[in-house]
Amino acid sequence: MYRKLILTLAASLLPGFIVAQTPDFSLSAAPELQDSGFLHFIMPRFSLKTGIRPALEANNPDAELFWNTESGQPVMQGLDQVFYLRFADRDTAETQKAQRFADWLTSETGLRTIEQFTLDGIQVFTAVQTEIALPPEVVFTGDVARGEDLSFANCARCHEIGTRNLMKGIGSTPSFGLLRGLPDWQERFATFYVRLPHPSITQIEGITEPFDPARPPSIIPLTLTSADLEDILTFVATVEPVDLGAVLQEHQ
Ligand code: HEC
Repeated sequence: MYRKLILTLAASLLPGFIVAQTPDFSLSAAPELQDSGFLHFIMPRFSLKTGIRPALEANNPDAELFWNTESGQPVMQGLDQVFYLRFADRDTAETQKAQRFADWLTSETGLRTIEQFTLDGIQVFTAVQTEIALPPEVVFTGDVARGEDLSFANCARCHEIGTRNLMKGIGSTPSFGLLRGLPDWQERFATFYVRLPHPSITQIEGITEPFDPARPPSIIPLTLTSADLEDILTFVATVEPVDLGAVLQEHQ
């Protein structure tokens, strides 16, 4: 009799959700997520880690995990739906707790937990990794090794290119790694010969005007073909980008 009461009680409560006490935040979730048992699975794991306990609440919730949200962050897909996480537009202690739920759910651990949920031994959801939209990278088809040699022969007297001439470039000249870290590095390299200080010292066969004979280059000029430039770009694509933010911090 006692045992039966406990069983009934357990079945009527959603583990991980608070019923009697004041909840830390309220969450509304798509019926599929409740019926499938996903919430039963995920919530205790989150609460165990953070001590934060949400309550299920359909009206004016602090956060929603639903399929019909136009805004919001896609978190996972499965059961023929993509589920989005969305927050109430208010800054309260509750929405901050809801944000911690979002942070956890989209962390490495959260994403793994989502994918560990199974029905009859079959994985139900795939976590959606948030993709940052980047301009499509052009694929360079030149010769990397040749591009590297050309870079060392032509650019290394000013630019630090890689470990082969580490600290050998001219201090104030940006390293290839630093330039490679810029979002528009392709554009910059493809047009470097029109960017200062290169025009007065660079000739690209069939592209640039010959030097003015009255003003010859002050140093040995760079003479390249467009195929050379393609190889240089192909090589630069392989250069490890340097994170400018990290560099600035190191120098503080
Ligand atoms: C005589 C020295 C010198 C040589 C040789 C040289 N550069 Fe530069 N380069 C510079 C300097 C200095 C800057 C920085 C200019 C600035 O910030 O205003 C620069 C900047 C650049 C930039 C960034 C330009 C921009 O506007 O953002 C690229 C790309 C570049 N160089 C590529 C090359 C390549 C490729 C070669 C070799 C084929 C090369 N450079 C050879 C001195 C040189």
